Amino acid sequence: MRHLLDTQTLSKDLALRILDVAEDMADTQSREVKKLPTLRGKTVVNLFFEDSTRTRISFEAAAKRLSADVINFAAKGSSVSKGESLKDTAQTLQAMGADAVVIRHSASGAPRTLATSGWISAGVVNAGDGTHEHPTQALLDAFTIRKRRFGADSRGKDLAGVRVVIVGDVLHSRVARSNVWLLTTLGAEVVLVTPPTLIPQNISGWPVRVLYDLDEALAERLDAVMMLRIQLERMHAAFFPSEREYSRRWGLDPARLERLTGDSIVLHPGPMNRGLEISADAADSPRSTVLEQVANGVSVRMAVMYLLLAGERMDDAMGSGQ
Ligand code: CP
Repeated sequence: MRHLLDTQTLSKDLALRILDVAEDMADTQSREVKKLPTLRGKTVVNLFFEDSTRTRISFEAAAKRLSADVINFAAKGSSVSKGESLKDTAQTLQAMGADAVVIRHSASGAPRTLATSGWISAGVVNAGDGTHEHPTQALLDAFTIRKRRFGADSRGKDLAGVRVVIVGDVLHSRVARSNVWLLTTLGAEVVLVTPPTLIPQNISGWPVRVLYDLDEALAERLDAVMMLRIQLERMHAAFFPSEREYSRRWGLDPARLERLTGDSIVLHPGPMNRGLEISADAADSPRSTVLEQVANGVSVRMAVMYLLLAGERMDDAMGSGQ
């Protein structure tokens, strides 16, 4: 694996390989000594032009657990404010020895530009670009759904027969896009539930069903419901009903939570806006996988870093803690 830029072009074989390596990584995380020597001598740069809690810290934890050196770069407080370009910033970090660059950027396509422009030779991982994609979030979501469904027998399994309902601001959600491509590649059925103003105009090629009524979606059998954050910072007020109206029609409130049956789970990529798209009862319920998603994110990002930087030296990697 040279780069991880999206899930739209990720093959099923490679997606399953990442999820299976993540299973191995998760096993190491229950050991007393969690650190592995695999990426000793490698340098990972976290290049974040947008705010992040989970993704940035998770990539840092993943790289450190694999013994890589980590350089964290935040655009805030950097020479970006003096007009330095993405090319010059990236080449500056490459000159300090970056083997992999993890980039979050407000511009859709920035990671692909970095990977294909020839500016740098490091592997590039997309940590969220504009409204385009957030591939490692989808991988950790798929890992979480698979783990809840198959438990210790997850390795090698796809998501055939799984129905996932994704609810909310699909228009601005890179998480939704990455999940649509990845979950359907893995065989799941995906249903999008959204206000009519928050669905992208051109989704004719998306392998999904679209509903505008959450109660209609919840009346069907489902295995997972993924609540999306309302991205007010990317939104024109005209596209958004009032918060109260949104919550009433598309929020996962206690009454809707009660209607979930069987082993169905509630996912949220975070950060959550409790009381808007998800009630506190739903966020904290036994069905909620929010904190499992965070923990699984470290294992999935360890797998991505491993496949990007260490090739197939897995036996060495898994042999002993350090
Ligand atoms: N899920 C996610 O991308 O969260 P952060 O913005 O906190 O990284």
